[in-house]
Amino acid sequence: MTGPVESFDADWLSLREPADAAARSRHLAHMLDAWLAGRSGVSITDLGAGTGSAMRWLAPRLTLSQQWCLVDGDDRLLNRARLAVPAGVSALDTHVADLRDADLAAVFGGGDVVSASALLDLVSSAWINRLVAACAETGTAAWLTLSVDGADTWFPPLRGDWAAGRAFARDQGRDKGFGPSLGAKAVSYAAKRFRAAGFKVGTAKSDWNLGPDSGALQRELLRGHAAAAMAADPARGRLYETWAHRRLKAIGAGRARVRIGHTDLLALPG
Ligand SMILES: C[S@@+](CC[C@H](N)C(=O)[O-])C[C@H]1O[C@@H](n2cnc3c(N)ncnc32)[C@H](O)[C@@H]1O
Repeated sequence: MTGPVESFDADWLSLREPADAAARSRHLAHMLDAWLAGRSGVSITDLGAGTGSAMRWLAPRLTLSQQWCLVDGDDRLLNRARLAVPAGVSALDTHVADLRDADLAAVFGGGDVVSASALLDLVSSAWINRLVAACAETGTAAWLTLSVDGADTWFPPLRGDWAAGRAFARDQGRDKGFGPSLGAKAVSYAAKRFRAAGFKVGTAKSDWNLGPDSGALQRELLRGHAAAAMAADPARGRLYETWAHRRLKAIGAGRARVRIGHTDLLALPG
């Protein structure tokens, strides 16, 4: 593969971390913890780990002590992850790698769990096939969280909601370096492939529910949605500008809420 790795801003990842933490499925984490019982220790590799948000959430919820390896294409994000080691983590390693072409079995094989948070919707069906094949070959469980599923609701309802949603969904299918992204279809596709490979699969909703106390996150989210809608459908640029302007006013007035649909997935080797 050529071209740079799609970049993500550390401030954006920090801004979303509390909403991610509130949304992740406790039930699936509990199932993973039960599956890991009896081991002397646990080894977890987080793909596209960013600043380590998934580790900070999961590590203190697991009974056994863990070794984590955080893998990302951006070493500036990984540097932030190294600043603090959360409770439950006995060893923390980071590894800079471009996951587009990486031999995934070599990246996480030999460990117990592979994790990916807010990554699955960026990748293609071919990449998910490679992930499932690597998990099956190495007997690794997959904990794949916070993948967008398209079930978004904006309040108050405004003219432009429907068109902006459609244009945003089109942008989500853009190639982010892994081939055409599956976007909202990623979780159902991955669930099907893991089941076909003999894994026991559980899914659970992990929506963001953002209200007036999440104004900064709502604003950034809205800017991202509007920019993506404009890029995907420039002919309706004025509509999206007006839509974003009205919604920003509603956020400023403390009247705006948004639900962004996500789904978590846990796949356990059979
Ligand atoms: C949406 S962010 C999620 C970060 C983190 N998992 C979280 O939940 O906060 C996607 C992450 O994938 C990484 N990424 C994107 N493309 C990549 C690639 N080709 N190779 C390695 N990492 C990549 C980005 O650097 C970024 O940290």
